[in-house]
Amino acid sequence: MRKGRFQKAVADVAQRYSESVSFDYRLCRHDIAGSIAHVAALAKAGIVSAAEQKKIETGLREIEQEIESGKFHWDEGLEDAHMNIESALTKKIGEAGAKLHTARSRNDQVALDLRLYVKEQIERASALLKKLQTAFLDLAEEHVDLVMPGYTHLQRAQPILFAHYLLGQIEAFARDAERLRDCLQRTDVLPLGSGALAGSTIVLDRELIARELGFARISQNSLDAVSDRDFVCEFLFCLAMIGMHLSRLSEDLIIWSTSEFGFVEFSEGFSTGSSLMPQKKNPDMAELTRGRTGRLYGNLMSILTTLKGLPSSYNRDLQEDKEALFDSVDTISAALELFPAMLPQLKVNRERMEAAANDPNLLATDLAEYLVKKGVPFREAHEIVGALVANAVAQGTKLNAIALADLKKLSPLFDVDVVDVFDVRRSLVARRAIGAPSPENVKAQIKAWHERIGRGD
Ligand code: ARG
Repeated sequence: MRKGRFQKAVADVAQRYSESVSFDYRLCRHDIAGSIAHVAALAKAGIVSAAEQKKIETGLREIEQEIESGKFHWDEGLEDAHMNIESALTKKIGEAGAKLHTARSRNDQVALDLRLYVKEQIERASALLKKLQTAFLDLAEEHVDLVMPGYTHLQRAQPILFAHYLLGQIEAFARDAERLRDCLQRTDVLPLGSGALAGSTIVLDRELIARELGFARISQNSLDAVSDRDFVCEFLFCLAMIGMHLSRLSEDLIIWSTSEFGFVEFSEGFSTGSSLMPQKKNPDMAELTRGRTGRLYGNLMSILTTLKGLPSSYNRDLQEDKEALFDSVDTISAALELFPAMLPQLKVNRERMEAAANDPNLLATDLAEYLVKKGVPFREAHEIVGALVANAVAQGTKLNAIALADLKKLSPLFDVDVVDVFDVRRSLVARRAIGAPSPENVKAQIKAWHERIGRGD
């Protein structure tokens, strides 16, 4: 590539400084697919003959085989995967290979490869999210009637069903899948044909290329097409968001696995011991997931920062988009493979959860609502029950142990039927507005998610 313009070879230190093949080799399959589609357009434009097209295609397929079987030698002196593959092709088939790069720049080539890569990874992440949702759904079915305390501020708040918690996780990951589908729309745009920045005097049939590669749309501005890394930012945001959801889930499980809560226990295959304390069983998988969220955010910040000062069109800074992208893909894929394996083995301690859910204070709001149903304005009812809670605390007794006569001192509307308020299952049955955790709603949601996940939406 330097032959015509330069007399001197690039300095070793500069070559090592600028090479990208050590990481962009990961784009090789897409690079080859892109070249095969490109050569079809070159053939249609009469730049290569049908025989040359065949030769190039066969050569590229052979190179793909060599890469797959580990026989291919990547040369860092050739900067990137694109140059390595082109150079190997020309070595293999001679002059025809030297025609491949007609009407193409590495600027539109790398944009193409990256879009093909992100499209593939969107599919992969979506499939993994579905597996994770299925794991939650199985757990929800297994524990469909299990009551637990719901928390706000990490303080016991109101009763819920454990299945309601699990269905809440499914909701969050469904939003992630939806975001990925949306991101796909802007990723699914063919940039090839934009050249370095201004297309080419050799006019190629870009529709043919788009069809060959399965792109839904074709970029409409060559300058923007080689500049645009919005799809990388969006995808990294989607992955950061998935990481955040996994991190919050991890935090719940970590807290619930403490002796203080004792709601869940990680199976031994997903726990670690301590090198010092023989009794320890640590939730490292969840902690690592929580910890790695930092790198997912970092990768998103890294690409946004790289882009912010760039003049339009291609600048070499754009080479810095890849490592962050690959790192986030690897981080999320590993986590999304881990959880569907770990969750089915999670031991759920039903007794501990039920016992905690039987705290009558969880029904203090129900008690206020009991008065509301008898005509007391909510703020007033809230104050009355607040005073009852304070009394109970002062007397070291429970809210449901206060004698009716004492209740009546605060409101004459309290009656014998007040005992029903302290039946936690009755309380749950009553929570039947859309989205609330009544057992009936939870069962309907489980059914609906089965259908939705089965349909693949
Ligand atoms: N290695 C480069 C990258 O990853 C390929 C494009 C280089 N283009 C150029 N004009 N130097 O971005």
